Amino acid sequence: MAGSTLEIKDLHVEIEGQEILKGVNLTINGGEFHAVMGPNGTGKSTLASAVMGHPKYEVTKGEILLDGENVLEMEVDERAQAGLFLAMQYPSEISGVTNSDFLRSAINAHREEGDEISLMKFIKEMDSKMDTLEMDKNMAQRYLNEGFSGGEKKRNEILQLMMVQPAIAILDEIDSGLDIDALKVVSKGINEMRNDAFGCLIITHYQRLLNYITPDKVHVMMQGRVVKSGGPELAQRLEEEGYEWIKEELGIEDETVGQKA
Ligand SMILES: Nc1ncnc2c1ncn2[C@@H]1O[C@H](COP(=O)(O)OP(=O)(O)OP(=O)(O)O)[C@@H](O)[C@H]1O
Ligand SMILES: [Mg+2]
Repeated sequence: MAGSTLEIKDLHVEIEGQEILKGVNLTINGGEFHAVMGPNGTGKSTLASAVMGHPKYEVTKGEILLDGENVLEMEVDERAQAGLFLAMQYPSEISGVTNSDFLRSAINAHREEGDEISLMKFIKEMDSKMDTLEMDKNMAQRYLNEGFSGGEKKRNEILQLMMVQPAIAILDEIDSGLDIDALKVVSKGINEMRNDAFGCLIITHYQRLLNYITPDKVHVMMQGRVVKSGGPELAQRLEEEGYEWIKEELGIEDETVGQKA
């Protein structure tokens, strides 16, 4: 199966009248893993939310295309149906909905009516993916993310990813709060997803994650834009030297996009 292509072109996004993204350009093809790095407050999570259609984020200019289709015209659920997936930096808790029910509806949302996944098949797949992620089977029957530890939430996001099998995923700080063992397990799950039909954008602060998941490309965001792109060696250099050299190279004084007093 050939993969999808997500194209983000000159994307400008405002939150409550303040411009946060100021012309982001990024293209992700099926089969590719891209890492997005950058100091705090430079627009990384805003980019993820804008692609998924968070109502607070107003696109004022630019385009988001999935296989040439205008994503900006799609509602949030239509974006998911079209094959986009977001693992959030702070996953929300939903009381009253079990993890397993949520997963099944998420999978069935991608399928035609009458073609829903059978309960047997669903349970078998969920069991095997929970094994890969070394998750306690009880997690399936607990309410979605309710009382989950930070690390459990992150594992659970990857369980969703593996079950839903989207065309393009954006993983926002999937490594934050994970202990060393959990980081390896989560990386294993993400690496299992690697195939020509799957493209992934991994937002992270740490080279450590990229030791386990080798990105094809690394991008750095500052001031609400991608200001530098390179291969895995770019992440390596950032780990060793920080961001100052990029700021000097590009003549950037303040890398953030936040409101200044
Ligand atoms: N819903 C919102 N309301 C007000 N301001 C917001 C909102 N979302 C983002 N911002 C502002 O936009 C800027 C960029 O935020 P964003 O979360 O995209 O940064 P980030 O690059 O993901 O940072 P971090 O590395 O700390 O996660 C910040 O100054 C933030 O306060
Ligand atoms: Mg963020």
